[in-house]
Amino acid sequence: MEEQGQRRRRVVLVPSPHQGHINPMLQLGTILHSKGFSITVVHTQFNSPNPSNHPEFEFQSIPDGLMDVNISARNLVDSILLLNENCREPFRKWLVQMIKEQQPGDEIVCIIYDEVMYFAEASASQLNVQSIILRTSGAVTVVARLVLFQLKEEGYNPLKDPNKLQDPVPRLHPLRVRDLPISPSEITESYVQLINNAYSVRTSSAVISNTIYCLEKSVLSQLQQYFKVPNFPVGPLHKFAPSSNDSLLKEDTSCISWLNNQSPKSVIYVSLGSVASMDKKELEEMAWGLVNSKQPFLWVIRPSSNNAPEGIELLPEVLAEAVQENGCIVKWAPQKEVLSHVAVGGFWSHCGWNSTLESICEGVPMICMPFFEDQKVNARYSSHVWGVGLELEHELERGVVKKAVRKLMVDKEGEFLRQRAAQLKEEVELSIRKGGFSYNSLNELLDLINKF
Ligand code: UDX
Repeated sequence: MEEQGQRRRRVVLVPSPHQGHINPMLQLGTILHSKGFSITVVHTQFNSPNPSNHPEFEFQSIPDGLMDVNISARNLVDSILLLNENCREPFRKWLVQMIKEQQPGDEIVCIIYDEVMYFAEASASQLNVQSIILRTSGAVTVVARLVLFQLKEEGYNPLKDPNKLQDPVPRLHPLRVRDLPISPSEITESYVQLINNAYSVRTSSAVISNTIYCLEKSVLSQLQQYFKVPNFPVGPLHKFAPSSNDSLLKEDTSCISWLNNQSPKSVIYVSLGSVASMDKKELEEMAWGLVNSKQPFLWVIRPSSNNAPEGIELLPEVLAEAVQENGCIVKWAPQKEVLSHVAVGGFWSHCGWNSTLESICEGVPMICMPFFEDQKVNARYSSHVWGVGLELEHELERGVVKKAVRKLMVDKEGEFLRQRAAQLKEEVELSIRKGGFSYNSLNELLDLINKF
């Protein structure tokens, strides 16, 4: 709560308009607000956050010119480049106006922008406002992309050769070519442009990373060689801001009542995040595998953007019935609540960075089925470095799914995954407690902002 007479200096947040990016930015806003800052969120019209989730913030929409663009995983890179072009001038104008109108004690102290919303830095530096970058992916993804670009300069380019997909990548152990965080599977000019822009610090004073030191210790120190400004690993942000809820889709909370009726650690939660999608054949194999595993499951099947048949409507009748008998299907779940529910014992995930962190924080082991970009790195690290994940390597097939689910949830050969997940949860808890690495890092960040 604001104390009487206390100065509430303003922090402007500029999130990228995708669920996996909006969540950590607004969680950071919630933390900063609790530390006495006023918060203004400047957002695009596309995927705009719901202001009623944060009556304590101010929201400002700027035109993004994306109305006629059908944004999907395929044109993500181009749409982000376009967004930066389109938002640059409206943001600058808004900032000029804000600075003109600001009252003593309510000055903009700094702008915190998602690394892919780098247009914000241009206006900040032009108008002498401090800026800080928020990275919403893991540090290893950043290092992997930087090393990959260096290797490319040195003439290494295995991406086009399908026979090299299993080869280890030099300097990036344990990543293989197939785990590299790029999509589609070639380094296009637009991709290089986007990553160079996103990773260039320019005049920004610091980087905030939604990661945890105990997970990425060695890569974080490697990163410090690339970026000369302080990097604050303050993750997992959702644990410092448990009240922040920024779902773009309506959460179906009926699944919590369903979970309440299941035995402890018996349920596998299945969700592939906010972007990835499945075709009919894959959906069918997933469904057979889940039903045949004999474990209860909670399955998120997002609505399609057109009005085409979707979810279990696509399944043959007999399978749809079996799915409904053994599982609970929702269009969007309160994921953090689900993962912390006592009935949940495993997570079949696409390994988006937020989902990976949320699972690790609750000690829930994962079946890793990445689709694109950083998801592939997160999956490889979950299985081969942190020891909490089981990679689904082969074609999606019902027998493979059944075996993986049983290994993760009940079979003896999966015991090490369950144990390691429980251990890692404890390590993470230590880092967010008073005196822990993330706790201290967050305080250092606040000190820096207070000095601006
Ligand atoms: C996108 C990219 O796909 C990913 O590679 C990148 O790391 C972040 O942005 P997304 O698909 O949104 O990721 O996944 P993720 O990062 O896991 O974020 C999804 C968020 O939505 C999580 O915070 C999760 O808790 C939430 N969620 C997901 C729900 O609240 N309910 C659901 O049913 C599913």
